[in-house]
Amino acid sequence: MALKKWATCRKYFLNCIKPKNTILGPKVRASSLKQISSQRLLLSDVSDPGSPFSLSDLSISLADLHVFTRKELILITKNFSKCNYLGEGGFGPVYKGFIEDNLRPTLKAQPVAVKVLDLDGTQGHMEWLAEVVFLGQLKHPNLVNLIGYSYEGQDRLLVYEYMPEGNLEHHLFRRHGAALPWLTRLKIILGAAKGLCFLHEEATPVIYRDFKTSNILLDLDYNAKLSDFGLATDGPDEEKSHVTTCVMGTEGYAAPEYIKTGHLTTMSDVFSFGVVLLELLTGRRSVDNRRHGREKNLAEWARPLLKDHRKLEGIMDRRLEGQYSIEGARKLAALAYRCLSSNPKSRPTMSSVIKTLEPVLELKDIPVGPFVYIAPVQGENECDNVKKNIKELDLDEVRAEEKIEEKEEKIKKVRQRHQKVRRNRHRRKAIGRAIHSDTELYRTLKSSLYS
Ligand SMILES: Nc1ncnc2c1ncn2[C@@H]1O[C@H](COP(=O)(O)OP(=O)(O)OP(=O)(O)O)[C@@H](O)[C@H]1O
Ligand SMILES: [Mg+2]
Repeated sequence: MALKKWATCRKYFLNCIKPKNTILGPKVRASSLKQISSQRLLLSDVSDPGSPFSLSDLSISLADLHVFTRKELILITKNFSKCNYLGEGGFGPVYKGFIEDNLRPTLKAQPVAVKVLDLDGTQGHMEWLAEVVFLGQLKHPNLVNLIGYSYEGQDRLLVYEYMPEGNLEHHLFRRHGAALPWLTRLKIILGAAKGLCFLHEEATPVIYRDFKTSNILLDLDYNAKLSDFGLATDGPDEEKSHVTTCVMGTEGYAAPEYIKTGHLTTMSDVFSFGVVLLELLTGRRSVDNRRHGREKNLAEWARPLLKDHRKLEGIMDRRLEGQYSIEGARKLAALAYRCLSSNPKSRPTMSSVIKTLEPVLELKDIPVGPFVYIAPVQGENECDNVKKNIKELDLDEVRAEEKIEEKEEKIKKVRQRHQKVRRNRHRRKAIGRAIHSDTELYRTLKSSLYS
């Protein structure tokens, strides 16, 4: 379910982002390029009207990025084949592709994800530029790696490392299959926190502005990487406490003071982090219009319940079936409570968030049970996967009503009983599927839990 993305001054914003054929102005002299390249290039350096930067200068400053031709991208994505379609957000469709080792001498063979700007959509050149400027320079294990980009005429494309497990939203809210286990949730949120912390601790802090489950991508080991820097912006310089911008973001995640005043700080990201933490604890979406009254907005509804241990148990994700650390859940609930404070100054910094999260991974009071998470097989027929994904999305909408959900619960229980029987049968065989139970994950991934 795609959440509503909004901008209160979208009209103004669109005026500043129309793709420019005339690029960004006259070429700068080599000496000034060099001067800027010694520090991080700020978005304003390239996007302000009158900036001396041209897109070809960008390729000099961000020399590690590959500038792809449309012809190469057609080859990589098999002509943007429907079978390679991964999904679509505000920017436009995303396709899986493969770079063969003979494409370019400096580029190793690898799977990639190619994002194509929808020229009729709500985003444009400015979001593309932000993505290139930020992800072209910021490299961290918890940020998705941008391999390159393409611009020809009005076309704007982005080429990323391929993240085989897709996004967190899909894993957390999908109707089919077992729920995401507790320790996997912890590993993901810790990775995402590290990514956000890295951005906030830059010499000029980067405010990400779009922290949400669909922007947290996962690799095969459930390492989390932040994606989508189209709304990111450089934070205030030392003399200022905030930047004032158009209100942009996704409903349900944006901080209340930012919505009211347009004042943006790194603490706005911490609020969004608190919302995602709540989604992981409760298994509920940040906004769910199928629910009644206050329950529609997760943060508003859940925050007052987080400090009462009995109430907390009542709102924990039922799909976890009690298989989580109670002490850990209480610690995370207390953390979410602070992140969601209406006063931005009372929210913790991301480095303090990490300090709270790390010890929670060590807690051993997780009931041992037959809880098994079956990850989809890699290399399955891609077309089948696409069809399956589309079907799941349709079902997601159709199964909105409470009654159907109850029915599903019953079916799930029967299925789990069947799975348990089948599992016991299969346990002795080595099988080609990735099966992670919480205890299994803990054993096999413990070393990487803190990576
Ligand atoms: N690098 C990647 N590897 C694998 N899948 C990706 C990658 N980047 C994006 N996707 C998938 O492509 C789909 C669209 O992603 P995109 O980020 O454009 O939109 P979104 O996050 O769903 O919405 P929004 O526009 O609100 O950010 C999602 O299903 C996402 O998981
Ligand atoms: Mg996204």
